[in-house]
Amino acid sequence: MSFDFPTETIKEGGAKAVVPKLSAYMKKPWDYAPSKAPVFYNPVMELNRDFAVLALQAHQKLLGRKVSVCEPLTGCGLRGVRFAVEVEGVRKVFLNDIKPEAARLAGFNAELNGVADCVEVANEDANLFLSRNAAPRKRFDYVDVDPFGPPVPYLDSAIRALRKGGLLALTATDMAPLCGVHPRACLRKYGGQPLRTEYCHELAVRLLVGCLAMMAAKHAIGIKVLFSHSIDHYVRAYATVDYGARKADKSIKKMGYVLHCFSCFHRETASGIASPLKRVCPSCGAKLSVAGPLWLGKVADKRFCSLMEREAKQRGLKQEKKILKMLSLVQNEAEAPVTYYRVDKVCDKLNLPIPGLKKVIDKLRKAGFQVVPTQFNSRGIKTDAPADTVKEFIAELAPKK
Ligand SMILES: C[S@@+](CC[C@H](N)C(=O)[O-])C[C@H]1O[C@@H](n2cnc3c(N)ncnc32)[C@H](O)[C@@H]1O
Ligand SMILES: [Zn+2]
Repeated sequence: MSFDFPTETIKEGGAKAVVPKLSAYMKKPWDYAPSKAPVFYNPVMELNRDFAVLALQAHQKLLGRKVSVCEPLTGCGLRGVRFAVEVEGVRKVFLNDIKPEAARLAGFNAELNGVADCVEVANEDANLFLSRNAAPRKRFDYVDVDPFGPPVPYLDSAIRALRKGGLLALTATDMAPLCGVHPRACLRKYGGQPLRTEYCHELAVRLLVGCLAMMAAKHAIGIKVLFSHSIDHYVRAYATVDYGARKADKSIKKMGYVLHCFSCFHRETASGIASPLKRVCPSCGAKLSVAGPLWLGKVADKRFCSLMEREAKQRGLKQEKKILKMLSLVQNEAEAPVTYYRVDKVCDKLNLPIPGLKKVIDKLRKAGFQVVPTQFNSRGIKTDAPADTVKEFIAELAPKK
């Protein structure tokens, strides 16, 4: 088969794929080649696809039967083809893209990898495609929504196209709204207020999951988050769906707000969507800022992440080290408090040199506080210590100027 644009063959995970030759679309240094090419392909998202392969395999093993998989915005098809090639127990992979060239390339890549018999490719709008598969016996065990920007326009139909207990994977690349640079856009899209704090990446995950929880609740569906991560320019969340009004109510109970004081680093959570909110910082009397409503429940499940870890150790993926580090951090902080402190930001405010992270962790732990590093920032710590104690300990440990 030939394509009327420059292509090259690449290898990723256990698959190979013909993709647009990105160097041909880099006319100027600031050009973003993946979206200039006639079919979307972004090599930087390999890690995102690796985690998806591991999560799908863990999900399949927990279900203990063959699964059907859907990627409604597939681009060159690499993610879906990797599912068919690398994941055991996949019955069928349904790929779709609105661009005819993308659908054609995805079909070609399925053939190239010898999995054409279990990959079906469609060429229509993702919402239409998902809705056509939302009838009880057609639904999928896994839906992976990996669009440009927010996944919100596809959430409703993706939820409806999932079987009971199915796993939904969501990518959001619109970090400017989610991290509070464009707060109105975030409120509009995700239904929650973001905040430009040092822990905005965690808030981004919680806003995304909160939006999912509220959307699922409308269909009397509850959610459980199994894994989430924040890397580079995007956040990602994996959650299972379960039918039942009570389950939906239980999810809604995990919604709430984060109240933050920009003057002294104090932060606290307020459970419930309709609860009255404190306006004044109990620590310093300054005005509190509000993020939410967002998800205050867990954003990872230890057992699921350890299954992913086991899978990661067996595959010889190129970025195995990075994957294992992330999975270990995520498991370690699965039960840690909401929000984190960044040692560098605290030092910035106190005008102090930055002490080593380990020293801060040890000191807080010795004083009896819960404290763990976080996946969200290499200088971040999650702790139940009050902001004043965190500041005091950091100041004591800061190297003398
Ligand atoms: C970020 S890319 C997908 C990348 C792919 N998931 C991967 O892992 O390589 C988003 C894709 O969505 C497709 N798309 C955009 N709007 C769509 C729609 N309404 N329905 C279906 N596909 C759409 C684009 O053509 C593009 O290929
Ligand atoms: Zn304060």
